[in-house]
Amino acid sequence: MNKLIKEQISQLKPSATLAINEESNRLKKNGKKIYKFGFGQSPFPIPESVVSALKKNANKHIYLQMQGLEELRSAIADYLNKTNDNNFNKEDIVIGPGTKELMFLTQIAFDGEVLLPAPSWVSYLPQALIAKNKVHWIKTTSDSNWFPTADQLENKIKNIKNKNLLLFINSPNNPSGTVCKNLQEIAEIAKKHKLIILSDEIYSQLTFDDQYKSISNYYPEGTIISTGLSKWCGAGGWRLGFFAIPDQIKELKNSLKILCSESFTSVSAPVQYAAVEAYKGDHSAYLSAVKKILSLVGSYAYENLKSNVINVAKPEGGFYLFPEFTNAKFSSSSEMCKDILKKTGVALLPGTDFGLDSRKMLARLSYTDFDGSNFLKKTLSSKNLDKADLEKYAPNIVEGVSKLKEWSNSL
Ligand SMILES: Cc1ncc(COP(=O)(O)O)c(C=O)c1O
Repeated sequence: MNKLIKEQISQLKPSATLAINEESNRLKKNGKKIYKFGFGQSPFPIPESVVSALKKNANKHIYLQMQGLEELRSAIADYLNKTNDNNFNKEDIVIGPGTKELMFLTQIAFDGEVLLPAPSWVSYLPQALIAKNKVHWIKTTSDSNWFPTADQLENKIKNIKNKNLLLFINSPNNPSGTVCKNLQEIAEIAKKHKLIILSDEIYSQLTFDDQYKSISNYYPEGTIISTGLSKWCGAGGWRLGFFAIPDQIKELKNSLKILCSESFTSVSAPVQYAAVEAYKGDHSAYLSAVKKILSLVGSYAYENLKSNVINVAKPEGGFYLFPEFTNAKFSSSSEMCKDILKKTGVALLPGTDFGLDSRKMLARLSYTDFDGSNFLKKTLSSKNLDKADLEKYAPNIVEGVSKLKEWSNSL
């Protein structure tokens, strides 16, 4: 039979995530307790007013505008201008079925090369490969909070001939859980070299210290903001995300709109109507409770893991930690994760999935294996949370972290 699959697609490998999930399921079937620290999913229910808005709009059935519902785009532009100090209007917003799809279509449209900090979220690289965009990795370390420094960025750009460059910045970061502190210097280099920045702000509302800063404030003309309902609102399965694209790069926006209309047509109408409530309503009590819980659970995991053999950065937003097991000796981080899963039942994702050298003994830990509904109810009805709450509402975190620590001590 002739070759059916395009070269760049047949090169894609099933990710280690899949392998870990399959192995977790196999072990679970055999009766082993599994700590699901591999999943990157919000454990919290969607705010009630947003769910009510969805119910109320279940009868909305026509295809909406390919760029997205006008009322929603206005609500989003107002929201960004108010909370993020931006200057967008509804024409700058494009709604998609999750930001992942919008990123994918951007890579398809973009005629240039891609700059990815390592570590980076798992999907940026395969999307670039599918779109046949050359990728340049910028290695970062925990010394710069897992974000590129201005020098690292500039040194990388110096050696690239193509002047059309798309830089991904994701703060708060998946996998490291850290917040970028040097946005301004990155923005200055970006401005100097006319880079386009794709600022993946999907975890921005889950920044623990309330002082979220977007790189779009330092480089508004070249920054695309990418975010949506999946993380802060617990609505990953609703599939709603958006891009805010400045007028200066409307060429990209116009192509993206065409690609949207030629692929998914428009996002589900009831979900778009419900999202108006997500961006217009006041969800401050919900968000502050969600952040309180995530910060408590994240700090617990961090405090109990960090040691002279585990390097880990303090969690600053989102729901991940990125520990390095400095005394682990395996041929790759995937092998290490297999060993951890087999011996402790703790499922983690290896650092290689995020673009790091496989010999670095790093893994991503997602601290979301708890019942978000009950924990949220408790938090909304009481002022302070303590260790007893954590043990009651997040027992898998307490147990899993302790097993992981024991494992590292036994090496
Ligand atoms: C860093 C990062 N960006 C983007 C996404 C995709 O989000 P969406 O649900 O909007 O497609 C995720 C989801 O896991 C993520 O972790």
